[in-house]
Amino acid sequence: MTDVELRPYSDDDLDLLRRANTPELMEQMGGVETDEQVIARHERYLRLQREGSAHQFRIVIPGHPEGVGMTGYWHRDEGGEPVLEGGWSVEAEYRGRGIAPAAVAAMLEWARAAGETLPLHAYPRVDNPASNGVCRKAGFTLLGELDFEIRPGLVLHTNDWVYDLGAPRSA
Ligand SMILES: CC(C)(COP(=O)(O)OP(=O)(O)OC[C@H]1O[C@@H](n2cnc3c(N)ncnc32)[C@H](O)[C@@H]1OP(=O)(O)O)[C@@H](O)C(=O)NCCC(=O)NCCS
Repeated sequence: MTDVELRPYSDDDLDLLRRANTPELMEQMGGVETDEQVIARHERYLRLQREGSAHQFRIVIPGHPEGVGMTGYWHRDEGGEPVLEGGWSVEAEYRGRGIAPAAVAAMLEWARAAGETLPLHAYPRVDNPASNGVCRKAGFTLLGELDFEIRPGLVLHTNDWVYDLGAPRSA
């Protein structure tokens, strides 16, 4: 498995978030943000982390302590049911080396160790083969397709993948 380490999101991660704010990457999440929006998101991540309702991580690989991407999960209400949702991104020059699947596997382990038992969903767009591949490689189960409103007025056609954190670990 690719050698990755997760560092809980911290004050130092604003640059990481800025580097992730590229058109190509943000197209998957609703479009590029202004620097003000990125700063607001940074502060939101720090606050939600303190409150325990969202956990973002810097993905570190050997020789790159500054981080090469991010992964995280957060609590969400799905039609009255509490669930977890996960997300991830890897900077363009580091893709195709299995970094995201290894980081997501580590994030699932972290969540399990933190006592999370709710199902963890991921909603990659159906036309995002790399991210659907990450779900498959990290052991998620495909439930089907759905139209996902990522913010008011913006609906993406996505797959719904789920990972059962409450299931006993297979050996
Ligand atoms: C999705 C993403 C996190 C995958 O990260 P990764 O570390 O490259 O993951 P992998 O190494 O497993 O590669 C995934 C797939 O990307 C494709 N890929 C391979 N080399 C690649 C490269 N140099 N550049 C881009 N994609 C490549 C391959 O199809 C690969 O699958 P395969 O190994 O089964 O053939 C990354 O592509 C990304 O950040 N994309 C933009 C943001 C995004 O879509 N986030 C998810 C939103 S739901």
